[in-house]
Amino acid sequence: MTTVRDLQEPDDPITMLTAYDAPTAELIDEAGIDVILVGDSMGNAVLGYDSTLPVTVDEVASRTAAVARGAEDPLVVADMPFLSVGVDEAQTIANAGRMLKEAGAEAVKIESNEHTVGLTDRLTALGVPVMAHVGLTPQSVNQTGYTQQGTEPDEAREIARLAREHERAGAFACVLEHVPANLASEITAELSIPTIGIGAGSACDGQVLVLTDVLGLTDRQPPFAEAFGDVRSEIADALDAYAEAVESGQFPSADHASEADTLDELEDGIY
Ligand code: KIV
Repeated sequence: MTTVRDLQEPDDPITMLTAYDAPTAELIDEAGIDVILVGDSMGNAVLGYDSTLPVTVDEVASRTAAVARGAEDPLVVADMPFLSVGVDEAQTIANAGRMLKEAGAEAVKIESNEHTVGLTDRLTALGVPVMAHVGLTPQSVNQTGYTQQGTEPDEAREIARLAREHERAGAFACVLEHVPANLASEITAELSIPTIGIGAGSACDGQVLVLTDVLGLTDRQPPFAEAFGDVRSEIADALDAYAEAVESGQFPSADHASEADTLDELEDGIY
């Protein structure tokens, strides 16, 4: 099983993907991926919202439990949804603790800001491993939009400072999202914990993408993502074939049903 300690000295770049259900988690495990993030990207990817903001603690906990049932080897990280941390310390601890105690996650990810430094310190002291997340943090969409962050020197310094503060507070890894590759490279060289990039270039210690982008299931994806398959058209073909088979009477065939001899006496009618 991959642990947070294994990630500190990776032999190869760390592989991380999001997942939201058990069968996919099982396939990700079989592919040898190191970390599964039960991301609040589920809001856009599978729950039909147009941002991550409506995603609830219950939704992440339920999806995390499904992923934990499906995956054995990968480290399972639950993403803390918008306003589930930082409003009240006791509630933050209860929400994060729930992901480990009830849902079977081994760590949580928190979109980082000034106020999450103290929270990271407290959660880590309590035994909850925390993955930090700087750069583009989609829960702040109403302040930043989805544009690349850290393109100006002051902004870049601020992102680097936040990453370092979270490392000092005990974070075991740090996601760098949609920042210039040269900034990600500087941060990666400076931190001793691993950086995991998404839209942050190849110098990071690992890479993460959203599963539906990787599979080619989304109709629109961010500029830094890559579809490694075309599952959208595979699903469309299967659905067309099913509809056609039912409508034409080809499905179900005699092979898909069986008769019970025990009902022979009803041959003259059941009513
Ligand atoms: O929610 C998510 O999937 C994420 C990754 C994109 C890092 O935060």
